[in-house]
Amino acid sequence: MSYAVTITDLEWKYEHRKNFALKKVNLQIEENTFLGIVGANEHGKTSLVSAISGLIPHSYNGIYRGKVEVFGQVVQEMDALELATQVGLVFADPESQFTAMTVEEELVFGLENMGFELHEIRERLEWAAEITMIQDLLDKSPYDISGGQKQRVAIACVLAMNPPIIIMDEPTSMIDPLGKRLIFDILRKLKEAGDHTLIVIEHNVEQLAPLADQMLLVYEGNVDKIAPPREFFTDADYLNARGVVTPESTEFVQWLKAEAHVPPETPLPITLEEGIEITQQALKSRRQM
Ligand SMILES: Nc1ncnc2c1ncn2[C@@H]1O[C@H](COP(=O)(O)OP(=O)(O)OP(=O)(O)O)[C@@H](O)[C@H]1O
Ligand SMILES: [Mg+2]
Repeated sequence: MSYAVTITDLEWKYEHRKNFALKKVNLQIEENTFLGIVGANEHGKTSLVSAISGLIPHSYNGIYRGKVEVFGQVVQEMDALELATQVGLVFADPESQFTAMTVEEELVFGLENMGFELHEIRERLEWAAEITMIQDLLDKSPYDISGGQKQRVAIACVLAMNPPIIIMDEPTSMIDPLGKRLIFDILRKLKEAGDHTLIVIEHNVEQLAPLADQMLLVYEGNVDKIAPPREFFTDADYLNARGVVTPESTEFVQWLKAEAHVPPETPLPITLEEGIEITQQALKSRRQM
């Protein structure tokens, strides 16, 4: 088994802050898996992924202890170019990343800087544009398109560089419902291809849980819980107390169990479809009793 990310006893305090934002974090992320990150505001989710991307400590001042490794290389010792080839970052606000006049130039810019040959640039451009469904936007200005389209362009820019680790920090938080769905479609395609380690901070657990191999709860600057989604969402009260909602289907079947409407061994669903299936089965077997 090989790890994309290994974090050992990481502690981080931003300059001028009283408390540590990250407190003795230990974490391993297996290569080519999907990690979903949840947690209430200000508990350290962005700080955690910033430590993986190298923004912490390279772009911030503060106290740093412990070690973060990306494919065995120590992040603190890597320069910006080395980090950019390993880790791609997508933020909630895509516009902050744009510099070019057209979407195509935006995508090509990074590739030219990396010194790729023209045919390779073309291939990567086409691949990234197809996955993110932005072929029709290539001639447009990145400022003249909708919020959801901007976010897909930002994702395409990261994909074009093809880093093995892709981090998204609340990628759907600033866009409309249809736009959100398209972002999750991209995540689904990337997961199915299985060629990237995907780390996604997202409050929409209904969409996130079915994609995640592991779910991680960040609470008070630490990894409070990490487990596959089905196991992760079993204790709704525990998660609710830490500001995290559970998928509605999970919560509903948990309620059916608590009220003895279904047998205690009934498995917990994480998608609506599973929830319907489990409920129908349970009710059918109850009628046959
Ligand atoms: N650039 C910064 N300078 C100083 N303190 C910061 C900075 N960024 C975050 N913090 C502090 O570090 C702690 C963790 O913040 P962080 O942004 O990592 O949390 P988060 O879980 O991503 O929150 P949110 O859900 O609001 O995005 C908070 O106390 C926050 O105020
Ligand atoms: Mg954040």
